[in-house]
Amino acid sequence: RNSKRQVECRRDISWLDAPFLAIYESLIPAEEEKAKQNQLLTLLEKHVRKEWPNAKLYLYGSCANTFGVSKSDIDVCLATDDLNVNKSEMLLKLADILQSDNLQDVQALTRARVPIVKLMDPATGISCDICINNVLAVVNTKLLRDYAEIDVRLRQLAFLVKHWAKSRGVNETYQGTLSSYAYVLMCIHFLQQRNPPILPCLQSMKTTYAVTVDDIKCAFFDQVERLRDFGARNNENISKLLWGFFNYWAYCHDYANHVISVRTGCILRKEEKDWTRRIGNDRHLICIEDPFETSHDLGRVVDKRSIRVLREEFERAAEIMQYDPNPCVTLFEPY
Ligand code: GTP
Ligand code: MG
Repeated sequence: RNSKRQVECRRDISWLDAPFLAIYESLIPAEEEKAKQNQLLTLLEKHVRKEWPNAKLYLYGSCANTFGVSKSDIDVCLATDDLNVNKSEMLLKLADILQSDNLQDVQALTRARVPIVKLMDPATGISCDICINNVLAVVNTKLLRDYAEIDVRLRQLAFLVKHWAKSRGVNETYQGTLSSYAYVLMCIHFLQQRNPPILPCLQSMKTTYAVTVDDIKCAFFDQVERLRDFGARNNENISKLLWGFFNYWAYCHDYANHVISVRTGCILRKEEKDWTRRIGNDRHLICIEDPFETSHDLGRVVDKRSIRVLREEFERAAEIMQYDPNPCVTLFEPY
């Protein structure tokens, strides 16, 4: 693998910029979708307010972080003042209330890792998951959205990487591959590491936004409109970046020793985090530090089998970018 390590692509791939950008554009949701999401949110708010007048609803995940492709489900967080609520009871009650309206397939999944109510709204055709007091997810959604505003190349890269991961079956956490959230963090980290950098490290700049959630201090610079020129000295386009991303994860990342960290904008060592051995089900075979829950490795879902699948897919993608006559098709072929 190391022998394939390289800093430049072996061929000029700038001719791929236009077709890759066309794919990116085709994945962006239409404005009507936003309106429909808000329509559903308003409906949910009406029901929730009757039962819990002080509760608030927040959108999080891909419908709010600007990394959502069209026709995505929406993720909603119900935030209460009462931190000791019995989530199961509350979800069952919520399911009951929503069932009586004409929402479909309302189900409370109280035993899931993140307990939720699932439903489908026939008026808009949108499916939705509602969780309770998952405020950290709302805050990391804002962090991702703020990064996306700095340089459009992040959104381009992340859309294509997510599209690739979904097409190739490596965006399935219950099968040991990575979440969309993990892929977006990998893209942010990659762009922080370019030379010159395309993205800054918002958490190591002056604090302009701070909240404390579950005893975790979340602080970062969020006046991103002032950073619009940040990446201007770097003129790499999407094809080069996509190649670089796959090349990094195929041949350059040190899986045995390294942890990628958006929080610090650097690569950390596993020893610093005590992630050198398996503890319980956490094997740390690919290490991606959560920007706020720093003890949390988003690669924890990856096991001995799925790490092989993942690395083979990174290598396949890197080779396609390098040699394939038609990467815009081959890259996304169903597995
Ligand atoms: P798609 O639905 O695949 O388009 O992507 P998504 O951005 O909605 O991602 P995903 O379904 O993986 O996660 C939804 C949101 O939950 C993320 O944006 C995060 O805010 C949050 N999230 C997901 N996984 C984790 C995790 O392991 N830890 C924390 N703290 N938050 C997570
Ligand atoms: Mg989602």
